Parts: sequence; structure tokens; C-alpha cells
Amino acid sequence: MCGIVGYVGPKTAGTFLIDGLRRLEYRGYDSSGIAVLGDDGVALHRAVGRIDNLVSVIGSQSPSGSLGIGHTRWATHGPPTEGNAHPHRGGNGEVVLVHNGVIENFQPLREELVAKGYAFQSSTDSEVIAHLIADALATSPRDSEDAEQRYVDAVQQTANRLRGTYGLAVLFADCPEMLIAARFGSPLVVGVGRGEHFIASDASPLAGHTDRIVYLADHQLAILRPGSLTVLHRDNGKISPDVQMLETETEQVSLDGYDHYMLKEIYEQPDAIRNAMRGRLDDQNATALFGGLNLTPQQLRSVDRIILTGCGTSWHSALVGEYLLEEFARIPVEVEYASELRYRNPPIEPGTLVFGITQSGETADTLAALVETKRKGHRTLAINNVVGSSIAQAADGGVYLHAGPEIGVASTKAYTSQCCTLAMLALYFGRLRHLSYEAGKSYIENLRRLPAAVEQALSCDALVRGIAEKYQSVNTFLYLGRQYNFPTALEGALKLKEISYIHAEGYPAAEMKHGPIALVDQHTPSVFIVPRGTTYEKVLANMEEVKARGGPIIAIACQADPAIDSLADDVVHVPAIPEFLQPIVSVIPLQLLAYHVALMRGCDVDKPRNLAKSVTVE
Ligand code: AGP
Ligand code: GLU
Repeated sequence: MCGIVGYVGPKTAGTFLIDGLRRLEYRGYDSSGIAVLGDDGVALHRAVGRIDNLVSVIGSQSPSGSLGIGHTRWATHGPPTEGNAHPHRGGNGEVVLVHNGVIENFQPLREELVAKGYAFQSSTDSEVIAHLIADALATSPRDSEDAEQRYVDAVQQTANRLRGTYGLAVLFADCPEMLIAARFGSPLVVGVGRGEHFIASDASPLAGHTDRIVYLADHQLAILRPGSLTVLHRDNGKISPDVQMLETETEQVSLDGYDHYMLKEIYEQPDAIRNAMRGRLDDQNATALFGGLNLTPQQLRSVDRIILTGCGTSWHSALVGEYLLEEFARIPVEVEYASELRYRNPPIEPGTLVFGITQSGETADTLAALVETKRKGHRTLAINNVVGSSIAQAADGGVYLHAGPEIGVASTKAYTSQCCTLAMLALYFGRLRHLSYEAGKSYIENLRRLPAAVEQALSCDALVRGIAEKYQSVNTFLYLGRQYNFPTALEGALKLKEISYIHAEGYPAAEMKHGPIALVDQHTPSVFIVPRGTTYEKVLANMEEVKARGGPIIAIACQADPAIDSLADDVVHVPAIPEFLQPIVSVIPLQLLAYHVALMRGCDVDKPRNLAKSVTVE
């Protein structure tokens, strides 16, 4: 799920490439590389690890050419070594390319190419594409009148043989003024400048360089020259590119004195929630307002089923959304892992609304699930944080979170903003149906209490740091909660896993006795999310069960709760707020717990191993 950049124009390509790769590092950061075509041929630099390592490798010898491509990798095929880092060369180096995606039939293609004498330098699937293009060029006459056509044909013929997904940027060593980009399943955006063109996996690298962009669609191929852009479709030939204005926000993000982005983003949550609600609470009608749903009142009222789909943390917020929408809007909701939904073929009745929930808007599975359901005629909406993202392009409408850029790989403020947005949607749909004016008013009052409650919850930081110190060396954690806080348990466990590399299980508290209770011993802490509410006493009973087996207990509870104080070894008190909003408050200490444990274990909190901020391959 790499990030791709490319440049052709009058300037030094390397500057744009490095800056662009930094902006795409959220897509992968295990290795990176650039190739620049200059007077002395192709200069290729690659390095394992972050873009900073690549910059050190390049040193003062910044390549001088004005055409180039770059890549930041999240390995799918072959370990993250320098040799597997992109760009890859094809043939004898006449073709150089970067690839985002997975080539599913790379093995037979590789065997075929090896039999023909092509020597592979890497274990990636991507390298087969480079050799295939070189092979296609080798069999096409050089004396053809239209030289450009020869390259285009070679890329198209190659694309026709690939199964899987690709976003490609290709340069040719003997072609100093042309880049070719091709897309199937992996996003690519062309930036249209004055006398220059850019290519990138998303629009963020283009901000500040041009505000005119073209989103390539599947089976499209773009020929980029300094002064021209040609877009071709596999079946329809030359098409007129749809040039749009760049919408992406170019906010520069700094640490503002925090040690890590994750910590900063945890502390930004009161503001992020305020921003999610800004202009969306309608006191007069006791409802919420959403400008971008693009549905007529009639369509809205005829919604009789909702599917919420997403991955990871966004899937957890979908679970919170399910409880909210079913309770307050009385609409049946199903929550689907996007990676499952995209290949399932469930009967989806007319009147079903599909929401793709994603911070980045670039998650391949969520995008594909949305596109697949849209293909079948259902209305699709995105709940998304990044303006102008791929999902925002693909959906029929949607809601932006307005949480501001989230840089830490572990999602924090996007999660609470998603939950808050789903709470507003539940109010909105509820008020279109049966929810009374009075109930709507009180719902809004409770929503307004959220930012202050989250602010107050953040004051547990020092206490949580102490708990982290105590448990930093254990091997397994259990996270247990019920109803609205079952997703909180899942989210707490995921946070800990992804940044501290400690195994953690999130479970509905009552399910514990059907299996995970076997894990309980004096070395396995259980984190109970046990605010007051419908199942409060039931969860207390579950705590007793753990205590009886000698398991240490950390409780996240409402203020002033002596029953919990006597049961748990450590208690973090959070403000009490109505049950349906409690997950937004209760998750705060869990985010901080994961943060402090990870820090104490010496982990890279903002860029944990093996992960990427946005998973753009399936
Ligand atoms: C969250 O902490 C994770 N890094 C991950 O599970 C993430 O939520 C998931 O990849 C989905 O990302 P998205 O919201 O950008 O689609
Ligand atoms: N499959 C390619 C590789 O492993 C590209 C990976 C990706 O796009 O994530 O290098």
C-alpha cells in the first residue's frame, strides 16, 4: 500500500519527489526510493526505513534531472530490504517503475520471464511488471512512426496481463520527456501544472504545486509530458480528462510541543468533537444537520436498513453506530468488515443505505466494499476525515469528520469523532421517524456536554501513566465491556496491540466465561469498562469472576463509585454521561494506557512496526 509520486517539467524532480513521499508516508514506511532521469541516464536511490534514511542515502548528490518517480513502500511481496524497495528496473534498465498494489499472478509471469532470460533483482511482485514492459518493447519495432504509441502499447499490453491491482508510474531511460501512469484498483491522481505534470497516489503531494487535478479511473492510462496530458481508456481510447479543483486541505501539522502525534491527537479530542458538531446541531428542530448526504427527504425516509462498513478502528466506531442507530432511529443496522463485505454477496434490499467509515478515505477494502455496493444500485455515503479522499470521490455523498489531520498510525481523535458523527446521524434519522421533539432536545444537550466530559477524562493521564508502569511487562491483557462499551473494549485492545506489541483481547464482558476466562491468572490484567448503565451490575459480577481467579483488575468507571473501588486493583474515574455517549469518554484512558505502555517499552508510538496509517492494498 505504497505511495507513488512522479514529476515531469522544468524543475528539479527530486525536490517534489522527496517532499511528496513525506506526505505519502502514511501509506507505508518500510523503505523508499526515487529514480530521476538526467543527462547521465537514470539515477536510482533506495533505502530501508523512513524517508529520512533515503534523504541521507542521497546526501548532497541530489539528482539533477527534471523527470522522475518515487515510492514509499509497505511490503506485500518480499521483505523490506533495499533490493525490494522501488523503483524497479525492467530489461536492462530501459524501463523503471514504481507500483502500488498486488499482482496476484506474478509467479507464473515471473517464471515465464525467467525462462526468457530476464534476471530478477528483487522478490517483489512489482518487478515482473517492469520486465513485462521491457519485453513488450523488445518485440515492438523501434522504427514505428509514432514513438509514443510504442511505449503506450507496451504498458497497455502489460496491464492486460496483470491480475490484481496496480497504480503504476513508469519512466523510460530513452524518453526524457514522458512518464506513463496506469491504474487499476490503486488510486492515482494527476496534477496539471503550467508546463509541468505530477502524479501521486493521492492529492496531498500536489497541494502547493497545482490546484488542478485529474483522478484517474480504473483501466485508464495517462501520458504525462511537461506541456501535455493525454488520458486513454483501455476500451474507449483517448478521453477528455475531467480536470477538477484540488479540494485537499494543506494544513501543516506540527507536534506543538507534544512528544508524539498520538499524544497530541489524544489531547485534541475535545476540539475535534466540537468541530464534528459545529453547525450540525439544530436546536430549533431538535435534530442534526448534514449538508452533504445528497439524499432527498423522501429517500431519507424510505431508508429501512443501514450497513456500516469499515476496517480496524473505523469498524469499531461502526459497532458503536449500530447500537446508536438501532436504539434511536429504530433502523436495523448491520456492521460489516469491509474486507468481508467486498467479496460476500449478501442480499441487500432496496432501501438500504451503505456507509463506508474511514479516517483516511483511502483504505482499499472500504473503498472496494463501497464501490461494490454502489454497483448493485445502493446509495453509498462516506464518513471520512480527509477532504477530497478517494472514498469522498466514490461515494454518493457523505459527512466529513473535520477532526483535522491524524498523523499517528493509531487512530484516536478520528475514532471519537466518528462515534460523535454517528451519534448525530442517529439523532437525525431518529427525528425523521419517531423520536420526539423533547427527546431530540435532550439528546442535543447531552451531545453538547461531550467536549467538556472528554476534557475532564483527559485529566486521568498521570494516573494512567502509573498503571502503565505497573503493567508494562505483562504479555497479555483482556479488555471487557458490554453494550455500548463492547466496542470500547475492542478499541482499547487494538490500541495496545498496535503500538505496544502486547497481545490483547477485547471481548463482551459476559462472553468471557465462554473461553477467555481461561487466560486469567495473576499475570493477566483485565481492563473492565464499567460505567453506570443498563449492564453495570452484570459487569460487576464479571469482575468478581476475574477477581476470584486472582486476575488483576483495572476498571474504567464513573466518578464516585465505591463498589468498583473495592473490587478493582486500579480504578480510573471518568465523567458520567448518558450511556449512549459513554464510549466516547471511556475510551480516553484506554488510549492513554496504550500510549504510556508503548512508550515505556521503547516502541515507536507514531509509526509502529509493520503498520501503515492507511492500508491501501487488500
Ligand atoms: C487504527 O488505530 C488502525 N491503525 C487501523 O485499524 C485503522 O483504523 C484502519 O486501517 C482503518 O483506517 P481508515 O479509518 O483510514 O479506513
Ligand atoms: N506489491 C508491491 C511490493 O511488495 C507493492 C506493495 C504495495 O503497494 O503495498 O513491493
